[in-house]
Amino acid sequence: MALKLGDTAPDFHAETTDGPIDFHEWKKGSWAMLFSHPADYTPVCTTELGTTARLNDDFIERGVKTIAISVDPIEDHRGWAPDIGDVGGTDLNFPIIADPDRTISEAYDMIHPGEGDSSSVRSVFIIDPDNKVRLTLTYPKSVGRNFEELLRVVDAIQLTDLVPVATPADWKPGEKVIVSPTLSTDQARERFGDVKEIKPYLRYTAAPTP
Ligand code: BEZ
Repeated sequence: MALKLGDTAPDFHAETTDGPIDFHEWKKGSWAMLFSHPADYTPVCTTELGTTARLNDDFIERGVKTIAISVDPIEDHRGWAPDIGDVGGTDLNFPIIADPDRTISEAYDMIHPGEGDSSSVRSVFIIDPDNKVRLTLTYPKSVGRNFEELLRVVDAIQLTDLVPVATPADWKPGEKVIVSPTLSTDQARERFGDVKEIKPYLRYTAAPTP
């Protein structure tokens, strides 16, 4: 059954390009972004892992450890890694999991038989420090993901975890946010100062600092 938001992310033991790991131990106390790609030595995947390597400091700044996975063997990951640096301009700086028996990919429902062969589709799981799944995303094999969007989502989740607000469509860090329905407008004004009521259920306030 597919993992749902709020579920505990399954733990696993794996071989990675940085050596063996136990997932929960590896991410202990951190956020994690676990993301699958269909295969090594393929063009879209090479650009995706290159982009993640370039943005990895931004993920680390947010307390997020990034880790990729495919069903290819560890020797292929190791052979392919230099291409990621060549193409993306930043050497591979996060581990890639080898999952040739597909145990982890099946546990995370990353293999969608209707999408061609038995390689994984492009899944993303954002997992919080308590190992709860906080975001899932699934893209087809032919479409590369937007990793700036994943940073934006992490910012939104981390903000709304700390402050009773929600983020509107297309929100970017620093922009106004929506007051949570759990606060009355009076309570919101007490807490945030200026609150603009567009509808009784849609109240905006300036981006709060957590
Ligand atoms: C790619 O990474 O380019 C790719 C992989 C599998 C199917 C389609 C594209």
